[in-house]
Amino acid sequence: MLKNKPVIGIIPTYNLENPLNDPYTDRASFVRMYEEKIVASGGIPIGLLHQNIEMYLELCDGYLWPGGSKVWPDFYPVIEDAIKNKKPLLGVCLGLQSLGLYFNFREEYQRNPQLSYDEIKQILKDNDHYLKKLEDSSLHNHYVTKEKESQEAARHRIYLQKNTLFYKIMKKEKLDVVSLHTVILPYVAYDVLVSARSEDGVIEAIEYTKDGAQILGVQFHPELEKNGELFEWLIDASYQKTLLLINKQNKIPNNYSLKIVAYRSSYPGCQNDGSIALPALDSWLELKKAMHKKGFFIDVESAYRSNEIQRKIYKENIEKYGQEHADIFVAKPGYSEHETGLAIDICMRKEDKWFNEFVEELNEVYPVLHEICAQYGFILRYPEGKEKITGYHYEPWHLRYIGSPRIAKYIMENHLTLEEFYEKTLR
Ligand code: DAL
Ligand code: ZN
Repeated sequence: MLKNKPVIGIIPTYNLENPLNDPYTDRASFVRMYEEKIVASGGIPIGLLHQNIEMYLELCDGYLWPGGSKVWPDFYPVIEDAIKNKKPLLGVCLGLQSLGLYFNFREEYQRNPQLSYDEIKQILKDNDHYLKKLEDSSLHNHYVTKEKESQEAARHRIYLQKNTLFYKIMKKEKLDVVSLHTVILPYVAYDVLVSARSEDGVIEAIEYTKDGAQILGVQFHPELEKNGELFEWLIDASYQKTLLLINKQNKIPNNYSLKIVAYRSSYPGCQNDGSIALPALDSWLELKKAMHKKGFFIDVESAYRSNEIQRKIYKENIEKYGQEHADIFVAKPGYSEHETGLAIDICMRKEDKWFNEFVEELNEVYPVLHEICAQYGFILRYPEGKEKITGYHYEPWHLRYIGSPRIAKYIMENHLTLEEFYEKTLR
């Protein structure tokens, strides 16, 4: 079984109490609560080890940098991978501090590229840009145990900055959060934004969103809360590659490609055997099985199309029906979701006959398909009545894999198009 959930790499916490020279004692450990939150939000957690860290990066769709007791620069390649590949990264407590320090180092290093790590650290310390000990404060430095009362005693208010990623996720101007820390990040680099503070001015959330990056750090502990908005964001944002918006205004980016895999459709007239983008394969098989259980034998009529095939279809459609018709039913080459392998046109077999598009036999299939497809991360991409927004005629057969079942459900339940989803969430 291939994976159809995002893999979230968790950085271990560093246990200072274990002796350095004991080869049988692991100094790295993982906090169970993070694992549980990621699973509950629909992701697959894996633990990262700092030796050979580069090997893990390709496996991961997103990252979590949790709390702990020591800044661990060996894991800075994780931040670099998150920036380069626009993978989401959530830092918690020391995670926020490590993210902040990474950008502070980077800023200073850009000014003084000849300096060593230790020299830059000294400059940061001299300028009060390194981590700073927190004065005794009733707001922050509590001792928190597993007991609810102890956590509630550490709760305090933070104020969110509007028009930030953090605000977009939480949708609140104030939050009461639990924190436990003895140092603070006193300063952020010029390209990092402070998205929340507590009333005594302590930085409670930072973010880096330049060029589509999705990096967010919070000083408090969201794993102690019942709601999991930040973890759900982390999982949903890990689907960024399959969530791509492609339409008449948004061409497929030049450097964009997904692995295309063979899928043998049982429909004899299927183009390309029904080849499909790898991330969509498992979910497609599950959806097909679920439809089969409901009595409908659906399969792929057309999924992945090369640019040449799309060109051919577009040209033939113009020749057959004219330019106007072609432009509301077929995308120009370079602008079709089919070229990514994430779109599937379905057809159905009934009593040894195959049916597709607008034929009457499919009228009973489409409502069921549209009802359940979101559970598997698919949406109806060109709904009826939204032609002006999508630019295309109603296509009940055209499903688009976007990845996150949570986002797919939101889109389908609210009768949205992908365009409207992007507009609403300012992605
Ligand atoms: N039929 C859709 C719009 C496509 O050609 O991609
Ligand atoms: Zn289609």
